[in-house]
Amino acid sequence: MRTTMDRIAPIFLFLLLIIDTSTAIDTINTTQSIRDGDTILSANGAYELGFFSPGNSANRYLGVWYAKISVMTVVWVANRETPLNDSSGVLRLTNQGILVLSNRNGSIVWSSDSSRPATNPAAQLLDSGNLVVKEEGDDNLESSLWQSFEHPADTLLPEMKLGRNRITGMDSYITSWKSPDDPSRGNVSVILVPYGYPEIIVVENSIVKHRSGPWNGLRFSGMPQSKPNPKSQILN
Ligand SMILES: *[C@@H]1O[C@H](CO)[C@@H](O)[C@H](O)[C@H]1NC(C)=O
Ligand SMILES: *[C@@H]1O[C@H](CO)[C@@H](O)[C@H](O)[C@H]1NC(C)=O
Ligand SMILES: *[C@@H]1O[C@H](CO)[C@@H](O)[C@H](O)[C@H]1NC(C)=O
Ligand SMILES: *[C@@H]1O[C@H](CO)[C@@H](O)[C@H](O)[C@H]1NC(C)=O
Repeated sequence: MRTTMDRIAPIFLFLLLIIDTSTAIDTINTTQSIRDGDTILSANGAYELGFFSPGNSANRYLGVWYAKISVMTVVWVANRETPLNDSSGVLRLTNQGILVLSNRNGSIVWSSDSSRPATNPAAQLLDSGNLVVKEEGDDNLESSLWQSFEHPADTLLPEMKLGRNRITGMDSYITSWKSPDDPSRGNVSVILVPYGYPEIIVVENSIVKHRSGPWNGLRFSGMPQSKPNPKSQILN
């Protein structure tokens, strides 16, 4: 015999799912803010943006993590060199299209930059984990104002490109955390040198520890063991 509860439970679950998806947002505009405790979720539910404390640290950082992995796994940190020491942090988007993270005093602890002035900017956490500032309604990544993928932390995600930044002209690279409690830049960096035949260089304490050898069209010739790996992270 099925009890009434057996029949009702799936309906409750269904309602909960509806409520859950309708409250999650992936975009903020200039009238909205993200306070410590608030998060936004990519539309596919894979990535979440909000405030976190790494390891045993009490400091607060703004970052992006995997929403579906129960062990907190951070893939990007905004204020990695400028921690907040309490939960007063607020992220806002200015009318100029700049993301601004401020502390209790209203002092800016981190901000993004922009390639050009914005008219109606929005910041969206994409399904790829990329936090993008763009004109509202313009989904073309090439015309975005700013992307977290162009400022990687210690994790290379699919669709992220190391190498020459199209706006700043600077080389982007990933750098290890100092420790599991401290996401500030540690001693190990991976740099993709995009000139001539592209090459990956691993630098530790400013010393080149490993060179991939030039790209031979299939893989980096100096790294015979390397397999295509969509996600790679520098571990401490
Ligand atoms: C910002 O987003 C909210 C919620 O989607 C919307 O009601 C509001 O009109 C938007 N404001 C601007 C300036 O686009
Ligand atoms: C936290 O940081 C603010 C400035 O950002 C500073 O004024 C305050 O003294 C700090 N508090 C503690 C407990 O370190
Ligand atoms: C922040 O505010 C606190 C208390 O209001 C003050 O003691 C501190 O000096 C301020 N810090 C900064 C960086 O303005
Ligand atoms: C990182 O480099 C600093 C300065 O060069 C050094 O003091 C520290 O021991 C290094 N840490 C590691 C884990 O290699």
